Amino acid sequence: MKRVDVFPTSVFCAQLGFPGNGEGDGLSKAELVEHVLAMRERSEPPTANIAAWTGDVRGFEFIHKDPAFASLFAAFEAAVMAYLEALGLDGAQLSLYFTRSWAVVARAGERVNRHAHLQSHLSTAYYLQKPALGGRIVLLSPSPPNEFAPGLFESRLNPLFKGPRDGTNSNNVIVDVAEGDMVIFPSRTEHATEPHDSPDARITIVSDIVVALKDSTGKEFLLPEPAHWKQFSKG
Ligand SMILES: [Fe+2]
Repeated sequence: MKRVDVFPTSVFCAQLGFPGNGEGDGLSKAELVEHVLAMRERSEPPTANIAAWTGDVRGFEFIHKDPAFASLFAAFEAAVMAYLEALGLDGAQLSLYFTRSWAVVARAGERVNRHAHLQSHLSTAYYLQKPALGGRIVLLSPSPPNEFAPGLFESRLNPLFKGPRDGTNSNNVIVDVAEGDMVIFPSRTEHATEPHDSPDARITIVSDIVVALKDSTGKEFLLPEPAHWKQFSKG
């Protein structure tokens, strides 16, 4: 039987390694790990003991401005441009901005609950430190397109399935990536992490990206270049 999968969500994985490791290229991986752990120590701890520390709500939400991360963010830019190209887009017509970026530190037993970055267009997560047993990212769909009967893909109905499960017949997909990898996905995609299961922390560098048009002339959709915006005088 012929099968055509329509409208899939694609998560891209870029294998960046550790771009800052070269001589004079900024901090080494070990130094970046220390830099992130120092942020955590200087801030309020997570409010729940199973919650990973997330810098965006702890006063460390613009690390794209921190010179320590310059090499990493240069590599992020290249990977996101490759993502656009993989989707068939002409990146030269688009203007991209890191709007917010932060570190996430997950210690043993800690996790990130289900959420989406609704204020953003594209989101990325780079795994600066990822122990082998580190909790993996889980992408979730609130309304899987093939779930023809409500609840069909809920775990309590797993016994109804005798074949393999993937994104076409599940409401969640685990993406396992290696240390040094970066995942890129539409920000509206709901995601979470498994509980972290290692004595060594998982450290992720997350970024939110907004995409605008370099030239919005005659184009109804997408944001115009922010240089054309005007802030309210009473803002
Ligand atoms: Fe997230």
